[in-house]
Amino acid sequence: MFLLIILLCGLCLWQLGQACYHLWLSPLSHIPGPKWAAISLLYEFYYEVICSGQYTREIENMHRIYGPIVRVNPYEVHIKDPDFCIEHFSPVKKLDKYGWWYRVFGGPWSTISTEDHHVHKTRRGTFQNFLAPRMVRGFVPTIVEKLKGASAIMDRHVRTGNVLNLSNVYRCMAADVVSAYVLPTSLNLLESDDLGEEFQSSLRFFFETATSMRYLGFMEPIITIIPSIIFNAMLTQPAKALIRLVRKLEACVDDVIQKGPDMDKSGLCLLERINNNEHEKDEMFRERLLQEAEQFIVAGSETTGHTLAVTTFYILQYKNVQEKLLQELINADIVFDGNLEITKLQALPYLSAVITEGLRFSHGVGSRLPRINKSSEVQYKQWRIPAGVPISMTSRLHHEDARLFPEPYKFSPDRWLQADSKNLKKYLSPFGHGSRICPGMHLAIYEINIAIAYIFTHYTVINFDTTEADLVSKHDLGAPFPKQDSKGLQVTLRARVTE
Ligand code: HEM
Ligand SMILES: *[C@@H]1O[C@H](CO)[C@@H](O)[C@H](O)[C@H]1NC(C)=O
Ligand SMILES: *[C@@H]1O[C@H](CO)[C@@H](O)[C@H](O)[C@H]1NC(C)=O
Repeated sequence: MFLLIILLCGLCLWQLGQACYHLWLSPLSHIPGPKWAAISLLYEFYYEVICSGQYTREIENMHRIYGPIVRVNPYEVHIKDPDFCIEHFSPVKKLDKYGWWYRVFGGPWSTISTEDHHVHKTRRGTFQNFLAPRMVRGFVPTIVEKLKGASAIMDRHVRTGNVLNLSNVYRCMAADVVSAYVLPTSLNLLESDDLGEEFQSSLRFFFETATSMRYLGFMEPIITIIPSIIFNAMLTQPAKALIRLVRKLEACVDDVIQKGPDMDKSGLCLLERINNNEHEKDEMFRERLLQEAEQFIVAGSETTGHTLAVTTFYILQYKNVQEKLLQELINADIVFDGNLEITKLQALPYLSAVITEGLRFSHGVGSRLPRINKSSEVQYKQWRIPAGVPISMTSRLHHEDARLFPEPYKFSPDRWLQADSKNLKKYLSPFGHGSRICPGMHLAIYEINIAIAYIFTHYTVINFDTTEADLVSKHDLGAPFPKQDSKGLQVTLRARVTE
């Protein structure tokens, strides 16, 4: 008993010492911000884990009180200054990612979690070209095919008059498209009985767990010694679904490796391209390929599905937007088949403006993105930030900044059709910045263009009691998640008679 008290006192003293250090002696003690956030990670833990992905909102509050630079935890600085971010995150900089923040997403071998700038460059080099617009254009027929799958589901709802959860359809479609691009065989969720319900619960579970493990990583050794009988009994349905998903990806990876490098490049999926292009294969290569596969499925599904749902919702909310869009689409007379020319769709000014505004609204990645400059200190206004300190920014806070986007919560495609809109576009960063910018952005943008254009030309979509709160991301966990009891985007559909 006595020993325990001594131990506890020791722990308290140590914590107190740490707090004093962080407050007064740390090289970041001059950075503004709440003292509670500066002395321990518990403050952030409360918002990120207990409240589930709500620190972005709290960081926004901090900026309101303390100005453009705040210390968000003992070790990290967050800056809300769009011009500085464009400069600081520019592609010529050789910044590293912040390992503590990223390690949880897909493990250390995936491109997205790679810390070191140079290692990242080689890894990304094994698939970068395959995601360039030229290559993605060749994939348009597959996107159209997946869309037709979604359309079959929608047709059924036209006939029965039943309410459709369009959020679900969009997420399944996004997952089917990205998996068709990356894996030898698509996940084909649109054909599943539960319309991907299980898949989505597994992704949400993944993001929640990943976020918690950032703070509770020290518990990992304890978890690994739990006997498997007890461990399995503890697994929830979403956890089991996640394990099944990983098994499926493992089978894909083994397929790819077994097949070996292929001389005939046409028709290869992204994993096979990596397998072809990676010349230094060590014993970790299988694990690497698996983590890349996980990363692509995770990074490409929720983000794109969410953007599609949010964009559709606002088109429905703003009647004038809907009418103008429809008029433009009808006049363009697009035929949606294997020969669809994506450049023709992208040349439609109003459609582009609607999608750009949709990207501003949807925050596919609503949490902060921390980077480290290892080699030299960074000067921001009168503040010096020592080398090696993670500096983060959040696109969402720029997208909702009224100085850049007047009336930021008004869905207004017209703001992208002004004479100086080109200048405005540089402040739009739904896909991040610099060397770590989203490589899947062209695939995502093509898919969003095709889906929005198709759905509004083929159906009259009617919102069935969906409110903003059902769609807006409330929990930013790397991917966006609406409130727990969100119904998703509920609609009824009528076939549009085309004359
Ligand atoms: C609207 C849809 C999407 C949005 C808003 C989005 C957003 C982002 C953002 C903000 C990042 C940077 C993350 C960071 O800096 O830590 C990122 C990275 C990434 N995204 Fe996307 N993304 C989307 C769709 C996709 C798709 C369809 C794919 C798959 C083809 C994809 C694959 C990736 C990968 C692999 C990375 C890591 C890149 C790297 O670290 O080099 N994303 N995405
Ligand atoms: C680190 O920051 C300095 C000063 O802003 C900059 O000149 C340099 O390019 C940065 N280093 C890297 C590796 O990006
Ligand atoms: C509709 O789909 C979304 C996301 O795919 C899900 O969160 C929501 O629970 C679904 N709504 C209903 C009523 O099942």
